[in-house]
Amino acid sequence: MNSFTYQYPVRQHFGKGCAESAIKEEMKRLSGQNVLLAYGSGSLRRTGLYDKIVGWLNECGKHVTDFGGIMPNPTYAKVQEGARIVRRQNIDFILAVGGGSVIDCCKIISAQAMLDEDIWKMQYTKHQYPTEFIPMGAVVTASSTGAEQNNGAVITHEEKKLKQPLVGAYHSFAVLDSDLTKTLPMKQVISGAFDTLSHCMETYMGRPQTSNLSDEINEAVMRNVIQNLRALIANPDDDFARGELMWASAMAENGLLKLGKQTDFQCHMLEHAVGAYTDCNHGQGLAVIHPIFYRHLLDEGREKLARMAEQVWGVQKGTLEETAARGIDALEAFIKEVGLPTRWGEMGITDESILRAAADTCFLMLGCCKQFSRDELFEVLREGL
Ligand code: NZQ
Ligand code: ZN
Repeated sequence: MNSFTYQYPVRQHFGKGCAESAIKEEMKRLSGQNVLLAYGSGSLRRTGLYDKIVGWLNECGKHVTDFGGIMPNPTYAKVQEGARIVRRQNIDFILAVGGGSVIDCCKIISAQAMLDEDIWKMQYTKHQYPTEFIPMGAVVTASSTGAEQNNGAVITHEEKKLKQPLVGAYHSFAVLDSDLTKTLPMKQVISGAFDTLSHCMETYMGRPQTSNLSDEINEAVMRNVIQNLRALIANPDDDFARGELMWASAMAENGLLKLGKQTDFQCHMLEHAVGAYTDCNHGQGLAVIHPIFYRHLLDEGREKLARMAEQVWGVQKGTLEETAARGIDALEAFIKEVGLPTRWGEMGITDESILRAAADTCFLMLGCCKQFSRDELFEVLREGL
């Protein structure tokens, strides 16, 4: 393993039905009165959770400012709108209630509200990063991204046609109440769980490739996601499976699996770049890319792919090449079994020029065991047509 220093700032409240007590406990700790309640495009009000949370905040003496309409794949314009409201209303605390999109948007609002300069320019032109933030917390209604666990956010800059990571704030706490995810459509549960699995695989396939404790824990998390997604599809009332998936998504992004590793995340960067042009669903895009990408890694990543095949997918052992290839076949079979796409056409993406633009603009990752050229990345994307 590589050397590391590990410190973790996010307090976790995990448990079925824990939301009310956890939110009230956190609000009582908070000295400021003005809370920005940030949420998505409508589900929070439809499910009735909005009224409950406003009631809990008011009981704790908080004044609530409303900030809804954060869209899936949040835009930079929405970040700027949020930052203006935070400044204008003298907001003391941002409460993000939603999935990865709401949580990511808020991380950057929290930083932008404290800055005079444009945070995108600051990070991508000056390579400087924010140090002061409006404090914030997250209530997760769609687990999978683990966005509540870290300070990275993925934001779509519509004018620039880029969907890229920005560094923002850590949440001081995360509420992980699996009951809040019960209204999430199964299609989103499935693409979300695949996102979690992808985070695990992208970490596992990073450097070093030799076996280590982080990767062995990772194997357990991957097995857990596969098993509990199957269980939840079979029975959406399986609260245990729902809770396991929620914690697995947190585990994949709370840093533990990444200790001592340089992560890969090339598939993610490709998917984000496609997303910048198509606004596609993140987990679905990853499902198309992963098996194809790993077939391009069969030489350089053979040993690790073979280990994953045995430890995670339980395939029959053959030569290293055979075992690795069987693991990728098992991954693809799982994607089909749970109803995720394996071709862009299933997501309505048929334009090859978009895939070329995505390959030409995506980040090239150093943690991958193979350094891909942009032409080969385009080939990976094109094979998905
Ligand atoms: O907007 P509303 O109306 O709330 O509807 C949302 C949205 O349409 C709905 N939803 C959420 N909770 C619900 C619910 N519907 C019913 N009941 C509930 N309890 O679900 C839809 C998808 O929500 P979204 O937040 O977009 O999904 P997800 O959590 O998958 O987040 C995706 C975003 O996170 C980024 C992705 O790129 C994408 O922009 N990621 C962030 C990461 C991070 N910060 O660490 C890592 C990931 O790799 C990922 O890139
Ligand atoms: Zn992801």
